[in-house]
Amino acid sequence: MKTVLVTGGAGFIGSHTCVELLNAGYGIVVMDNFVNSSMQAVDAVKTITGKDFPFYECDMCDEAAFEKVFAENQIDAVIHFAGLKAVGESVQKPLEYYSNNLTGTFVLLRLMRKYGVHELVFSSSATVYGSHNPVPFREDMPIGGTTNPYGTTKVMIERILQDVCIADKEMRVALLRYFNPIGAHPSGLIGENPNGIPNNLMPYVARVAAGILPCLSVYGNDYDTPDGTGVRDYIHVCDLATGHIKALEKLDSIPGGCEIYNLGTGKGTSVLELVHAFEKACGHAVNYKIAPRRAGDIATCYADVSKAKNELGWVAKYDIDDMCRDSWNFIQHTKQN
Ligand code: UD1
Repeated sequence: MKTVLVTGGAGFIGSHTCVELLNAGYGIVVMDNFVNSSMQAVDAVKTITGKDFPFYECDMCDEAAFEKVFAENQIDAVIHFAGLKAVGESVQKPLEYYSNNLTGTFVLLRLMRKYGVHELVFSSSATVYGSHNPVPFREDMPIGGTTNPYGTTKVMIERILQDVCIADKEMRVALLRYFNPIGAHPSGLIGENPNGIPNNLMPYVARVAAGILPCLSVYGNDYDTPDGTGVRDYIHVCDLATGHIKALEKLDSIPGGCEIYNLGTGKGTSVLELVHAFEKACGHAVNYKIAPRRAGDIATCYADVSKAKNELGWVAKYDIDDMCRDSWNFIQHTKQN
């Protein structure tokens, strides 16, 4: 069975994918610089799976340190999650975002070439569809028109990887465009635990429900959507994690080149629908108020999931109630610890 290097493996999506990789029988080597994560998640992956693996606390931009990971392990494929990802912060710190996300990817690609590793799964985002495309978003739509440097790094890295595949016929790359990952592992041991006040909806709702924050601001109720609030394609992080396993399996069977897959449910849920689903999961009301729209937000975003279904044999199996249940379970665990 293959050994997979997971960059950013202590993060929200990375840690859940590590669990699924180990459960599927893969060997893993994990690296993370803990800029937005901690050793706790790495230990939790070991607890959940009962398996051990090498871990490197390492910055992907530090080529010498990163090279040790390749030199000391026989790596067959890479899943590349590592990167800065806060939308608002990226507007304030564009140089840091472009420099970190692009340099880290360049270093990774140089090392993959040097050590003869040809398989890569890249963590991209539905943000690459920008604001000009009609829903549902399909992989063959024109991308770009992003509203922040974070999103633009995803567009740029997708393009770089496509060019690398043209030049190197042995390279096999899957670009996975995630919609809105939420939920947590049912054990409650890993989940999304951002530092400070969350920017994203689900961690904010969970903190209000748990009494950590007083009130959710719903950013706009005058969008052209059924209840006026923003509609997104929320996907359970465990479903997203299994999508990575399917993509890895697919890389084995394609001759070369770059394939793009949306990972979503194909179903839109509004902010208020999510709040009400969370109220059902936690058993009490979640305090919210209507606030002005947030700059850069679009009204509606959901995936056409037929390509992942037809080519990867992958469909999301959890619904919004499962996602809320597991996010609630996770926040209760984190509050206790
Ligand atoms: C954002 C990023 C996306 C990134 C994702 C990570 C953009 C434009 N969006 O998606 O690239 O991959 O985070 O999960 O780059 N909302 C509230 N109140 C809040 C927070 C959010 O009403 O306190 C609303 C938003 O207006 C939106 C919905 O909830 O309608 C979802 O927001 P959020 O969780 O931040 O995700 P996105 O903006 O869709």
